[in-house]
Amino acid sequence: MRKMAGCEPLIVKDNEILLLDQRKLPNKIEYFSAKSVEDVCFAIKEMIVRGAPFIGITAAFGYYLALKDSDTNKQLKVRAKKGFECLLQTRPTAVNLFFALNKMNDVMQEKCDILPTHKLINKLRAAAFTLWENQKKEDLAIGAIGADYLKNKRRILTHCNTGTLATGGIGTALGIIKTMHKKGYLDLVYVDETRPYLQGARLTAFELELENIEYRVVTDNSCGMLMKKGLVDAVIVGADRIAKNGDTANKIGTYCLAVMAKRHNIDFIVAAPESTIDRNIKTQNGIVVEERDAKEVLEFNSITVAPKNAKALNYSFDITDNELIDAIITEKQVYERFEF
Ligand code: MRU
Repeated sequence: MRKMAGCEPLIVKDNEILLLDQRKLPNKIEYFSAKSVEDVCFAIKEMIVRGAPFIGITAAFGYYLALKDSDTNKQLKVRAKKGFECLLQTRPTAVNLFFALNKMNDVMQEKCDILPTHKLINKLRAAAFTLWENQKKEDLAIGAIGADYLKNKRRILTHCNTGTLATGGIGTALGIIKTMHKKGYLDLVYVDETRPYLQGARLTAFELELENIEYRVVTDNSCGMLMKKGLVDAVIVGADRIAKNGDTANKIGTYCLAVMAKRHNIDFIVAAPESTIDRNIKTQNGIVVEERDAKEVLEFNSITVAPKNAKALNYSFDITDNELIDAIITEKQVYERFEF
């Protein structure tokens, strides 16, 4: 986080939150000002902010913005409900959004009949900060546990962005990579560019630069070649939702990596906080996979690259079956068998 000075992903002010606009990185450091819950919903939907834990944290501050000007507890309750519903609709796959909003609702339920309005508002603001602080601690724990577990794997391939920009802390999969680098365990990171939003090429590469970590951006379809040549020791990815049996939803392309890793006998590791485990769903059948605008696939930097009338299919996530995953690393422990 220290290295992100000047480009913190979130700055909380009294009447607004400033969100580092991830659509513009790495070329421009620009902040999007969110003054209302509607602004926050827009920012999450448009992927100004993204990454499962960070979506949750941003949503918690959005919840606070929704009710911060309330004059009575009754008004506050109505606004919280409306804000909650608006935020819940933004992105369907990452369970952390539900987790964070439910935490805010819990505080509401617990304190609404006890505290006066201004104190309740402060309490909810503090609850959003607590979620963020907890995430930072969890990231550090994931980093330490993961680096220890993977210490003999010196060349790591990763997908999407799972760093500070995705969690507000050091990151999950990328947090492990950063910790491995600090401990001298790492030689090289292969960064999947991650079509179509380019979270790898734009965001992960940006974070690795700041950390002085040696990396190569590779096209998403390079993994087979790299693995066959014996250039990859382990794959580490994040997660948006993990079912009770370990089936894992993550950025589109993750499943292909897992299949390819199995074929080449390479460790395939998922890193995520416990809050990404959805204990309400038994298997992948309960996971909703977001489909996004065709434009993201048919255009590149706003230039159309397919025929004018081309249609696209843009699943934003895929699901990796549990048997393809060697370990799931959380802030608590390394799981090699998945019965959550
Ligand atoms: O669509 P995105 O960029 O929000 O997707 C992000 C991912 O898939 C990440 O791997 C996941 O959220 C984990 S972030 C620690």
